[in-house]
Amino acid sequence: MSVKNNGATRFFLFLMLLLSAGLLASCDDDDDPSTSSGQADDDDAVDDDASDDDAVGDDDTIGDDDTIGDDDTIDDDTADDDIADDDTTDDDTADDDAADDDTGDDDTDTCLKPNADCTLAETAAEAGFFVGAALPGSTDPGLTVVPTHFNSVTAENAMKWGSLCPLLEQCDYAEADALMDFAAANNLRVRGHALVWGKIPGHGHPGDLETLVNQAPDPYTFLQQAIDDHVRTTVSRYAGRVESWDVVNEPLAAIGSGFEGNIFYRTMGPDYIDTAFLAAHEADPNARLFLNEYFMAYEGPKIEAFLALLEELVDRGVPIDGAGIQGHVYVTEPEMSRLSDFLVAINDLGLDVELTELDMAKNALWDDMLAGRELFDAQADAYDIFATACLSAPACTGLTTWGIDDSHTWLDNVLPFEWFAPNLPLLLDTELEPKPAYFTIRERIAEFN
Ligand code: GLA
Repeated sequence: MSVKNNGATRFFLFLMLLLSAGLLASCDDDDDPSTSSGQADDDDAVDDDASDDDAVGDDDTIGDDDTIGDDDTIDDDTADDDIADDDTTDDDTADDDAADDDTGDDDTDTCLKPNADCTLAETAAEAGFFVGAALPGSTDPGLTVVPTHFNSVTAENAMKWGSLCPLLEQCDYAEADALMDFAAANNLRVRGHALVWGKIPGHGHPGDLETLVNQAPDPYTFLQQAIDDHVRTTVSRYAGRVESWDVVNEPLAAIGSGFEGNIFYRTMGPDYIDTAFLAAHEADPNARLFLNEYFMAYEGPKIEAFLALLEELVDRGVPIDGAGIQGHVYVTEPEMSRLSDFLVAINDLGLDVELTELDMAKNALWDDMLAGRELFDAQADAYDIFATACLSAPACTGLTTWGIDDSHTWLDNVLPFEWFAPNLPLLLDTELEPKPAYFTIRERIAEFN
């Protein structure tokens, strides 16, 4: 991508990224009532917990002596067994039926020819690839065009633990059920998101979880049981309908090579990850299970830590099938060249990978940095980098954009992105029409298949 870059703008961008990373921990969509309390992130140490010393990114470098959960290995079911099996999903997924869909032409592979007159969903389906959208809610107007353009969906918020259960003992699955019904009615593959997430009490996890854990006589056992109950309940409820789950979201610190010091890590250390994956696997042995994480660069300590963590999980038999790589980036994001290597490195561990949360925000300096280029064209180039990296990796099974269309994006409601609203970061414009990035991804899928 040719963008103008100088030291000052890159420094500004870096500050913005750091700021946004911090704010992601404490803010969320305005339209999510569960977060309106504006609760701060759970950075506060648990006073009575011996692992208080595990401050974010300090001595918990992943990949050295942090092995845990030896007792919990599943002997006969390593991640390798399940990877990219054709039969990991039931008969109703978009993948299985892909080629049968109404492409309007009897020829096979019609959509994989250059400049074919096909939608992105048709092209992706023919290629056996998933192109998804995160669904803001079951009544969002954008839902009407989702089956036309996408063959995969994710609940943007509705299936997070704190959305399902604002309080630990107060759960309501109605909105998640409605989204799953929409997906089933339209034969859309579902990525479940996210069973365990340490950020944003009342949204990422129940608002009272931390208090209950801290009050428990045995916090470790209490939390382990709570995770186990929640994961089993949710995964079994949607078994056969959710093809893959983000089992744990964002376990790592924003920067550095350590775990995030959230309530789960402070109480259980990395064991919480094992607990969640084991429960999910037992609740639905056919679902592909992912560890989902965000990155502000595709090389450096956090990348190394993530790969080391994946390797440890695989080595000790945790039933993990893949890694989800988020992609909340700026259109003018400077360097993406390492992304491809990173995806391949994940595949080299015997794991699938998906790009799980793509959006390409503009930023304060976009006019300057794009040097007069049209935003949507520059955005198409940025999406191209991600699509190409995924399609050229050995086992990158899909990409998902974090929203349907530019009229609804979390970025417009969260600082610092909110300052530059409308951010217009998605594949469909506010009129639900495809943007240049949409066609770029479609062409790239055809080219690689
Ligand atoms: C993270 C989460 C998503 C979403 C975004 C932005 O990336 O994984 O579910 O909440 O933050 O809000």
